[in-house]
Amino acid sequence: MTAVAALPVVRTVPDLRGRVAAWRTEGLRVALVPTMGALHEGHLSLVRQARREADRVVATIFVNPRQFGPSEDFSRYPRREAEDAGLLAGAGTDLLFAPAVEAMYPPGFATTVSVAGVSAGLCGAARPGHFDGVATVVAKLLLQALPDVALFGEKDYQQLKVIERMVRDLDIPVAVRGVPTVREPDGLALSSRNAYLTPDERAVAPALHRVLAGIADALAAGRGSAATLTARGKAELEAAGFAKVDYLEVRDAETLVAVETAERPVRVLAAAWLGRARLIDNVPVPSR
Ligand code: PAJ
Repeated sequence: MTAVAALPVVRTVPDLRGRVAAWRTEGLRVALVPTMGALHEGHLSLVRQARREADRVVATIFVNPRQFGPSEDFSRYPRREAEDAGLLAGAGTDLLFAPAVEAMYPPGFATTVSVAGVSAGLCGAARPGHFDGVATVVAKLLLQALPDVALFGEKDYQQLKVIERMVRDLDIPVAVRGVPTVREPDGLALSSRNAYLTPDERAVAPALHRVLAGIADALAAGRGSAATLTARGKAELEAAGFAKVDYLEVRDAETLVAVETAERPVRVLAAAWLGRARLIDNVPVPSR
């Protein structure tokens, strides 16, 4: 018989702080895994990595209104807390923090954390204000929980770089870990938004990773410039059935500044629309 132990849930900052403080008194190391729910194996790989790095794992589920644009999918973003709680418990989570919007942004809330440079371009250009919303909520979650380590997926590579920069700039005492992207066997990166794809679109979706991987291989082998490879890649994505490519670019892996060749570690990143879903993905290019 398998039984998943019930996962304790807290919804206020004092309750969260109380639990974490009790662990601290025992000398335990605490990890934080922030999410927006609708969990899949990608999220659970963060929890499993957190378990390896800490004695206690706190996951958060909060669909953060401040990181969605006015015409984006905030209201239809999937919400299924009970199912998520079961998955989190099964993967080794000790506590779930799932605050209401009013608990995170009470009346009078007036502060925005904005990380210049790495937030500009890529998803920052296509989604104005998105990374301010992410930086603000992640700063709050880190300061609310005060974990030793916090884990984020490389799937959202620009987000990871924004958070690393913010934590350094604001001297937030936490180690930030990036965790490699979990993929379907055909290469499609797991994402809560894959649920928006029709079966036909789902069949086309792996082209995104295939194109990125092809560009990374070509760059690593010195076959072609970033400009020609990405232009060809965009055409391939459109021919495969992607309606619009928001961006397909080669960037320095740390600063996200545009680069032409792979002398230093670089990353190939893309966002493209398939039906109702905006898919993002990125891959590393080994330096030559
Ligand atoms: P969400 O999209 O729910 O993702 C939560 C975490 O899971 C992020 O760190 C994301 O990069 C990671 N993740 C998603 N898909 C993954 C995959 N296929 N492989 C590995 N990791 C994956 O990202 C957010 O929420 C929010 O912006 C958040 C950081 C919680 C702030 O609101």
